Amino acid sequence: MSRDTVLVTGAAGFIGSHLVDRLAERFQVVAVDNLQTGDARNLAPAREAVRFVKLDVNDRPGIKFLFSKNNFRFVFHYAATVGVEFTLAQPLKVLDDIDGARNLLELARLAGVERVFYASSSEVYGEPVDAVQHEDRTPLNSRLPYAVVKNLIEAYLRSYRSEYGLRYTIFLIFNTFGPRQSDAFVMTRFIRQVLAGEPLTVNGDGRQSRKLNYVGNKVAAVPAAIDTPASIDQVINIGAGYEISIQSLAERVITTVGSLSTIVHLPARTEGDMTRRQLDTGRLRQMLGDLPWVEFDDGLARTVDWFRQRG
Ligand SMILES: NC(=O)c1ccc[n+]([C@@H]2O[C@H](COP(=O)([O-])OP(=O)(O)OC[C@H]3O[C@@H](n4cnc5c(N)ncnc54)[C@H](O)[C@@H]3O)[C@@H](O)[C@H]2O)c1
Repeated sequence: MSRDTVLVTGAAGFIGSHLVDRLAERFQVVAVDNLQTGDARNLAPAREAVRFVKLDVNDRPGIKFLFSKNNFRFVFHYAATVGVEFTLAQPLKVLDDIDGARNLLELARLAGVERVFYASSSEVYGEPVDAVQHEDRTPLNSRLPYAVVKNLIEAYLRSYRSEYGLRYTIFLIFNTFGPRQSDAFVMTRFIRQVLAGEPLTVNGDGRQSRKLNYVGNKVAAVPAAIDTPASIDQVINIGAGYEISIQSLAERVITTVGSLSTIVHLPARTEGDMTRRQLDTGRLRQMLGDLPWVEFDDGLARTVDWFRQRG
């Protein structure tokens, strides 16, 4: 029996490429990326079942052509302009992401796609006003363009559902780390600095904390969501994991590599650096059950190994 075809955007990026690895186990994957921050080498492991198309999702004729040539069962929209510094420096570019999402949703509903999976972000919660962020009970406090865009695209998904019946699942992704992550993220920056024998640079006093979760855990939730009808038209916090201050993270990376690097403090960011993130994972566990889970230290060791090998 021939396999169903799915579309993944942002497929050459960090999380997108890990998702492609998983989806390629059961689908033909059309992998779209404009390589803004992605790297086509990330798609090498899943080559057989994957066709890479270098394309911008904002290129409506290009995306339309793809839909005309394929009968996509699912769409996974993971393309986005990301990275705290980049998104603060180029807010208009961030806002352009709305056009790409609209292109996809319009074509998906015309093509009768079964469900759209969207990579939203814990940033929609903004600076936390609740100790533990819950999908329904925590007010969304999005202020930065990146978070506003995620929020707006979520509104489009709900509106396409109510007007056209297009089903969705929204993943609210919390801080992720792992192989293939770009230098814009703190874990990659620390590992690269340590491997180069340089001091690690921490913004502010380093007491801001993150719940860091290995990338494999994030993508493990996706096949489970595909097979779980209860996840249709739901928003699901994806994360859990290990709460660690940025200072402790720097120390842990130094110990894991066995390096003598020091830590230097830079001025605190005035925007975009949330003090704390904690998430309620009750819905994730209730809907998707027990997922295979890579613990923090194991994930860190795997990530360091990968960066050592790739250089
Ligand atoms: N990494 C995290 O901790 C995290 C947290 C919350 C949400 N997310 C979301 O997960 C998704 C993947 O993020 P990531 O961390 O893997 O970042 P990433 O930069 O590695 O991946 C994004 C990919 O999208 C591509 N892209 C950007 N704009 C595009 C466009 N217009 N057309 C086609 N391709 C485009 C980039 O080239 C890149 O490959 C994003 O939607 C991001 O907002 C990530």
